[in-house]
Amino acid sequence: MKSYDGKKRVLVTGGAGFLGSHLCERLLASGHDVLCVDNFYTGTKDNIAHLLDSPRFELMRHDVTFPLYVEVDEIYNLACPASPVHYQFDPVQTTKTSVHGAINMLGLAKRVKAKILQASTSEVYGDPKVHPQAEDYWGHVNPIGMRSCYDEGKRCAETLFFDYLRQHKLRIKVARIFNTYGPRMHPNDGRVVSNFIMQALKGEPITVYGEGIQTRSFCYVDDLVESLVRLMATSDDFTGPVNVGNPKEFSIRELAERVVALTGSRSKLVFKPLPSDDPMQRQPDITVAHRVLEWQPKVELEEGLRKTVAYFQTLMRP
Ligand SMILES: NC(=O)c1ccc[n+]([C@@H]2O[C@H](COP(=O)([O-])OP(=O)(O)OC[C@H]3O[C@@H](n4cnc5c(N)ncnc54)[C@H](O)[C@@H]3O)[C@@H](O)[C@H]2O)c1
Repeated sequence: MKSYDGKKRVLVTGGAGFLGSHLCERLLASGHDVLCVDNFYTGTKDNIAHLLDSPRFELMRHDVTFPLYVEVDEIYNLACPASPVHYQFDPVQTTKTSVHGAINMLGLAKRVKAKILQASTSEVYGDPKVHPQAEDYWGHVNPIGMRSCYDEGKRCAETLFFDYLRQHKLRIKVARIFNTYGPRMHPNDGRVVSNFIMQALKGEPITVYGEGIQTRSFCYVDDLVESLVRLMATSDDFTGPVNVGNPKEFSIRELAERVVALTGSRSKLVFKPLPSDDPMQRQPDITVAHRVLEWQPKVELEEGLRKTVAYFQTLMRP
């Protein structure tokens, strides 16, 4: 694997979001110039406020559904609302962000000969019939459901990345990100980790959908960011798609119980009907990431949850 040396001008779209803000931080710490582009749809200035003093950090309010003209060496394309409450709020805009956003960022990469990485998702596998999911699985996706704006938008973005590779010889990288959690997640985004922590901290009932036997794997944000940086640094002949996430599975019920224990909350679990298209199982096969990126998650769920709980506690302070 190539070493990640030398200062570069790096564009992070969606840089004021949860993952993007940690990625900006990491790239700055590695000595690069970072241009953070965001329309603040789900991201906030608070997420990157601590970076604004750095002379190597630049913030630009811009919507990736419109073309962007800047000079950069590398592009991490993260712009897209990622949680169901946010991406279903304006589903047409969600598809536009994934598809037009990809076209615009690929167009930029082509113009300035930049290397470009797409933040794709495990949702491209839909409700998988194969378990765990390896990259050669084509998925089981509903094209007309409530989640389709996100799933199909991301699938189309992957198509565009590979067509730009075949047609224009672009240097592309596609990461299929599985559930990630950590500080700066949105407290009210309806995702399972943030939901459970907020409910536990407020002493409210913990809402578990179905019987809570559906499983998820949870990757801590620092591990995830490391995988993206390593993927970007791979040689040009490696494009992915590559799964990045934590293969260790936990049932939703187990997660709820851990959160209750960690917060010392008196909250009780309540069970509600499963939403449509909610996958029963989701677990990455990270063999490729392990082999090519020499990467695997290091942070244990307990440690990651503790840091995330501490972040949510600061948000709740008056
Ligand atoms: N967090 C996860 O578990 C996870 C899992 C799979 C994939 N991903 C992908 O990673 C990326 C980042 O996810 P996140 O969890 O940080 O979500 P997030 O919502 O916190 O971040 C997304 C960022 O994109 C910005 N954005 C949205 N639409 C935009 C537009 N049209 N133009 C410019 N900026 C726009 C938002 O304001 C926000 O800052 C997304 O592409 C998401 O699909 C995340």
